[in-house]
Amino acid sequence: MKQPIGIFDSGIGGTSIWKEVMHLLPYESTLFLADSANAPYGEKIKEEILSLSIKNTEYLLKKGAKLIVVACNTATTNAIATLRETYAVPFIGIEPAIKPAALKTQTGVVGVLATKGTLSSSLFHNTTKMHASGIRVIEQVGTGLVDLIEEGKLESKEMRDLLATYIYPMIAKGMDCLVLGCTHYPYLIPILKDMIPSDITILDSGLAVAKQTKTVLEKNNLLAPKTALVDHCLYSNKDAVLLKQFVPLKSAKVAYLDF
Ligand code: SIN
Repeated sequence: MKQPIGIFDSGIGGTSIWKEVMHLLPYESTLFLADSANAPYGEKIKEEILSLSIKNTEYLLKKGAKLIVVACNTATTNAIATLRETYAVPFIGIEPAIKPAALKTQTGVVGVLATKGTLSSSLFHNTTKMHASGIRVIEQVGTGLVDLIEEGKLESKEMRDLLATYIYPMIAKGMDCLVLGCTHYPYLIPILKDMIPSDITILDSGLAVAKQTKTVLEKNNLLAPKTALVDHCLYSNKDAVLLKQFVPLKSAKVAYLDF
């Protein structure tokens, strides 16, 4: 199956998932869409998130995607059920790493930093109920973080100040595991590590998503042959120069596209 794995996100954050998929599945081609023109999704209403997710999915399917990774927590929680009901290809979504955090915490306090769209979804609440009963889960909406990342302001004072208002109150409440519930946030790990005590564990979902993608490809007989010519194309409908900074692979094609 030489068709690409399709991956979409509200913006450049989904490249954190794309990297894990590309490393774990070196024979697979990928087609990635960063819908940065419409980022952030996290503050939008469900209907809009769904309609943007459908637009991205239909473009990927038109280009022959054999499986689609919804590399956005907000789109997963608000749209993946409908996408699965509507289209025949397998969909992989992103779940915040609540379960590993609940297993790891010593203090019994886990912090989740995610968008409003993710934290208010029923999928998030069901996951928390199922995997973290008896654990105190502190939910924190990361308003403004995706906007700053989409502006390329990763290391800025603005970013540090905003993160401080979100993270320090959770630490004061005894949090020893911080779940990053948005695919943009793994890019904040270096700055977070600089700001928080080293005994606080930071968890994201990238590797788990790549492993799940591999499992589903295997189950559906969709793995590319080891002889396949590998091709990675990544498109942004806003700023290809910024997207390129998040793609550490010279052979990948990174371009602007009004998809
Ligand atoms: C956003 O677009 O607001 C964040 C994307 C995510 O939830 O992963």
